[in-house]
Amino acid sequence: MIKYKKFQKIRLGVNIDHIATLRQVRGDTTPYPNIHKFAILAMKSGAEQITIHLREDRRHIQLKDLIMLSKDKKVKINLEMAATDEMFELALKYKPAWVCLVPEKRQELTTEGGLNVSTVESQLQKWIPRLHKKNIKVSLFIAPQAEMIELTKTLNADAVEFHTGHWVSEVSKIKKQKFWKELYNGAILANELKLNVHAGHGLDYEHAAIIKTLPYLQELNIGHSLICYSIELGIKKAIQKMCQILK
Ligand code: PXP
Repeated sequence: MIKYKKFQKIRLGVNIDHIATLRQVRGDTTPYPNIHKFAILAMKSGAEQITIHLREDRRHIQLKDLIMLSKDKKVKINLEMAATDEMFELALKYKPAWVCLVPEKRQELTTEGGLNVSTVESQLQKWIPRLHKKNIKVSLFIAPQAEMIELTKTLNADAVEFHTGHWVSEVSKIKKQKFWKELYNGAILANELKLNVHAGHGLDYEHAAIIKTLPYLQELNIGHSLICYSIELGIKKAIQKMCQILK
């Protein structure tokens, strides 16, 4: 039986985009939710990094959030971003620990698929060495396809982050098994090429318990489910406090 290296503990990156979504729904006019406070709370609760996606349309995380979080040395930032000159300049200025390059479409509800690395190859050839010079590591958010993984290596990125969304949401058992096999083979190939293996998208408690068995997995980035669970887990206390005030 082949033995795969298991990492002692999988790093959890907590994506706090949807805390910012709640703030932006009221046009950023309320004193809550406080992004910095939540980032610190996440780090204190076991997160090893805070993942934020500064989108071109600024629908949730704003530039001011990146600036504020980057000033706090206790917060390790994984900055998800599109491969544009504007974003690379910001990354060099605010120096997150990691940059994760993602595809971006204005109309999408969330990052729908992996990056087609070949479409941004020349951008990455130009910018990855500059990020490395500033000690910023780079991951590419891709589907677990051999061609994409090999291209990630050719471009000298540090890690792949596999898009787990299709595997998570698939209802057909056979297709789900096929997606799992792709993730599995992709993880083995990435490790052979000495790339770190990260994964994320759509992960909930149920799927986190399975994906943690993926060979060579070092990091998961999870957002939406955690923010939803925190409402379920926390609303009782929040209401009780309001009732107390109204007494
Ligand atoms: N990783 C990447 C690269 C993403 O784009 C996202 C979504 O912003 C996530 C992880 C987290 O996905 P989710 O919010 O579905 O957990």
